[in-house]
Amino acid sequence: MPEGQEKIIEMARQVSLKAHAPYSSFAVGAVLVADDGSLYPACNVENASYGATICAERAAVCAAVADGHKNFREVVIYTETDEPTSPCGICRQFLMDFSPRMTVTCACKTGKVLQRSLAELLPEAFTEPQLDK
Ligand code: THU
Repeated sequence: MPEGQEKIIEMARQVSLKAHAPYSSFAVGAVLVADDGSLYPACNVENASYGATICAERAAVCAAVADGHKNFREVVIYTETDEPTSPCGICRQFLMDFSPRMTVTCACKTGKVLQRSLAELLPEAFTEPQLDK
């Protein structure tokens, strides 16, 4: 694994420690890598309503968009689990609007890594062109 990637995984681990996850106790950290290499770390933020919970990946997208980025090369996700955790369906859909060809890297405490393209994780996705009636 490239050294740069190790650093980003460690950044994702660090931000997972800031998760607000009192209901599930499942902390997630995500680092979104913009096309120019800018990094946007975020964690999941849960809510007593449960439904208002935002995942780490979507929180990272919101931070990046607010900073002027809409093209991403990778998202690195970290969970303190034995196996990598792949992103939920809502996050796959949310990322898909921006960069279908981005890489999704899922890392965990054992060092196992799952790496896929977003298009592999969400084949035949619903995207903007389908809104043209
Ligand atoms: N979670 C994420 O942050 N990302 C995912 O892709 C999967 C789920 C969070 C949401 C919730 O706070 C907790 O993990 C358990 O579902």
